[in-house]
Amino acid sequence: MPTDRDPLALLETWDGLGVVLRHDQPTGTWIIIALHDDRLGRPAGGTRMKVYPALADALEDAQRLAEGMTHKWAGLDLPFGGGKAVLAIPRPLEAAERAGLIDRYAGLIASLNGTFRTGPDLGTTPEDMARIAAHCPHVLGYDFERRYSVDPGPYTARGVYESLKAAVAAAFGDDDLAGRTVLIQGVGDVGEPLARLLAADGARLLLADVDRRRAGGLAAELGAEAVDPDAVYDLPCDVYAPCAVGGTLNAGTIPRLACRVVAGSANNQLATAEDAERLHRRGILYAPDYVANSGGAMAIALMQQGLWDEEALMARVAGIGRVMAEILAEAQEQGVSPLRAARRRVERRLAAAQSSDMRSK
Ligand code: PHE
Repeated sequence: MPTDRDPLALLETWDGLGVVLRHDQPTGTWIIIALHDDRLGRPAGGTRMKVYPALADALEDAQRLAEGMTHKWAGLDLPFGGGKAVLAIPRPLEAAERAGLIDRYAGLIASLNGTFRTGPDLGTTPEDMARIAAHCPHVLGYDFERRYSVDPGPYTARGVYESLKAAVAAAFGDDDLAGRTVLIQGVGDVGEPLARLLAADGARLLLADVDRRRAGGLAAELGAEAVDPDAVYDLPCDVYAPCAVGGTLNAGTIPRLACRVVAGSANNQLATAEDAERLHRRGILYAPDYVANSGGAMAIALMQQGLWDEEALMARVAGIGRVMAEILAEAQEQGVSPLRAARRRVERRLAAAQSSDMRSK
């Protein structure tokens, strides 16, 4: 749904730190770097490349994603702040145009001197990040010695998998996935490795993707079923795993859902915070997105701190399942939605950081 808001009003009313905005003339792209919060550390977050209906939509997405990163880092207890970049392209770009845009974007990041650090997100690739790293050191998940650019997808998928199991255990009493039906919406960078993990556990998979051939190919390989991407909100399943765009949980879709658990990797799955209460009232257990999908961010942050061993990283990421189990248990005990329980944890961390920050000033 396109927003009817004025971009300047979005800039004025935002509760974040501010937005760096530049129009890239050669490609007609709006470059948006939204900086939300720096109480835990300097803002860091992925770069999304996407076509939006209008500038206001891109700006709003960047601001909401940056806020999501604040929560994600706080939930992980890692010393990074919330930020996110959006490259709002007018149409899919040719390779040469794209390279030019990435180079100019890298120049902008370089000029910020580390105020914002980035990595891949929807629509950008590890190759794009390597290109940015050729201009400046402010790229996370890039090994400057080996010139190796990481794909966070498999780490994100592992965190979602563990979170999904924690949610299934909370909803059904055990986390056995054999015979459970999981509907994955979007089998891209995260959805595909997630499907592989679930298939290995004997889950019955329904796979949907706007790229129908992609869903069909993976379904054939895994012995799963490809389903119509327009039918996802009405299909009976145990778990609905949104692994594509945000905002799929809203006043229109929630009454239609025929699942018991929602656990997926998309950022900003809820259209509004009220939708968490809507799910709660319907008895659908929602695994908060910024916790479930934090495996990629966690791996990238740990790499930044010098840990590059894949097995060790995966083991740390798997710990997200325990965090999710704690959040769901806290929500259950207090009779609140899981989003509220997760938010309380985040607020406690941010408040603690703020008070120690004030003491040191
Ligand atoms: N874009 C991914 C996310 O939203 C991974 C990422 C995290 C990339 C942090 C860069 C920095 O979690």
